[in-house]
Amino acid sequence: MHDAAVVVPSADAASTRTGGDRTRAATRPGTTAGPAAAAAAAAGAASTDAGSEGATILSPTTLSLSERRISVIGANGSGKSTLARLLNGLVEPTAGSVRVRADAEAPWLDTVHDGPAVRRLVGFVFTDPGAQLVMPTAAEDVALSLRRTVKGKRERRAAAVETLDRFGLSHLADRSVHTLSGGQRQLLAIASVLATDPAILVADEPTTLLDLRNSRMIGDLLMGLPQQLVVVTHDLGLAARADRTLVVDDARVVFDGDPRDAVDFYTEMSARP
Ligand SMILES: Nc1ncnc2c1ncn2[C@@H]1O[C@H](COP(=O)(O)OP(=O)(O)OP(=O)(O)O)[C@@H](O)[C@H]1O
Ligand SMILES: [Mg+2]
Repeated sequence: MHDAAVVVPSADAASTRTGGDRTRAATRPGTTAGPAAAAAAAAGAASTDAGSEGATILSPTTLSLSERRISVIGANGSGKSTLARLLNGLVEPTAGSVRVRADAEAPWLDTVHDGPAVRRLVGFVFTDPGAQLVMPTAAEDVALSLRRTVKGKRERRAAAVETLDRFGLSHLADRSVHTLSGGQRQLLAIASVLATDPAILVADEPTTLLDLRNSRMIGDLLMGLPQQLVVVTHDLGLAARADRTLVVDDARVVFDGDPRDAVDFYTEMSARP
């Protein structure tokens, strides 16, 4: 079992910045869920600050995420990435809170007030691995992730190669990341994130750019992780392999429950004119 926080909306909103984009959220702290072993998450509302009114990009939302594998599905522009990004502080709620914790005994961390600790706890995998592979070679990229935990340069290189080996990538250790295939790059990006051993992994459409074989491989890898996983996906087969699925539509969570029922709900919803 995993565990989570809960958030309830409130009227008071404040502005926050995320990667240069200004977003506004409205939430207020909710109650905390019961005991659990691993991760936790909660979300509130988010709205753009573009005009005096601002458009809602995620309506007031209360969630307690404690299952090991949670999938998030829904139409383009419905708010899935916003929800995912709230979980590690890439998007901050402007009122209320989003909280995570490593396990039932661990203290809750607030994504706004405990940003660095939250980002150590919650790894984030982007759709495009190019967004997170910053070093010239595969081994250097993983070594960069290990800089906090492994101090010596030689030890860090050895640990990086060991990590690559775990993902069947050690033969690519010294290859330029630019020469890797899309599947290899996504696998490397996931390896780099997992090298830090986060308690929670949030992945935003990690298989969208991949062919069938690689998306299956990445899907199998993600679903088999010991970490808590929150995966946003348009791959309904992958979504159905989760323990719980959220359907997001028009900035709201409109279904929350059994993955197969969620896929049916979304399929029927999408067929409506
Ligand atoms: N920082 C921002 N500023 C302005 N609008 C935003 C911001 N972030 C998201 N939006 C808008 O909020 C809506 C939801 O965006 P979000 O990225 O969460 O959708 P999504 O469900 O992930 O879509 P997709 O499936 O296309 O990735 C979109 O209309 C988007 O343009
Ligand atoms: Mg998205």
